Amino acid sequence: KSSLLVAAISFVLLFGSVAFAKKAYVNGIDANYPPFAYIDANGKPAGFDVDSLNWIAEKMGFTVEHKAMEWSTIVQSVVSKKIDMVYSGMSITEERAKQVTFSDPYWKVAQVVISKKGAGLTVEKVFKGGMKLGVQSGTSEADALQNQVGKDGNNFELKYYDSAPLAIMDILNGRVPAAAMDIAPAEDAIKHGKELEIVGEFGEPEFFGVAVRKEDKELLDTINKGLKMLMADPYWEELKAKHLKD
Ligand code: ARG
Repeated sequence: KSSLLVAAISFVLLFGSVAFAKKAYVNGIDANYPPFAYIDANGKPAGFDVDSLNWIAEKMGFTVEHKAMEWSTIVQSVVSKKIDMVYSGMSITEERAKQVTFSDPYWKVAQVVISKKGAGLTVEKVFKGGMKLGVQSGTSEADALQNQVGKDGNNFELKYYDSAPLAIMDILNGRVPAAAMDIAPAEDAIKHGKELEIVGEFGEPEFFGVAVRKEDKELLDTINKGLKMLMADPYWEELKAKHLKD
């Protein structure tokens, strides 16, 4: 009976695809954070973090979709299961660790103040000279700086932006004299010819990690194993050379 044969084959195929289906995860990204994550000229997610996670997914046997999300609510989006993780230039902070769990750190970044090239500023002048200081909403920098206004003679006024490139644009347009961010996006903008300079560092360097739901032990374990493998592979050096200034 051929119908029985068809049924048997269908069953085997269906069972096989369920039993061997790869896990599918969704990664939330800030799509305006080059060189870690951005949308390339073909409209596809790209960057150091995107390439890293794609490599890990392939090695660890899962599929991943990178979804552009709003940065200021991205941790909440992990908790509410809109996304499964944030592998997108996110600093490991105590505040965020109340809501999500972080993987092992994979990158260290200094916190810097930037200005237009040749502006002749110092971090001291920016912090204590009553200046406007641009910062991306929902970042660790924004939190840290908010706590410093009015202390130790700091009298800057924070101006909030939805992304780092928007703050950079306002510096170039002369709307704001300086901005605070991680060093990597600033160096990336300078590398791409923007007339900016790094005024100096402030605060403590931070470490990027991957945020996952607290209960998602399986994903945490997979990411940590994948990171370890990636950082020991020649591809890690290749990725750094491709995306980051060294
Ligand atoms: N240090 C900042 C933070 O973790 C960087 C935020 C910007 N990163 C990003 N993907 N938008 O909050």
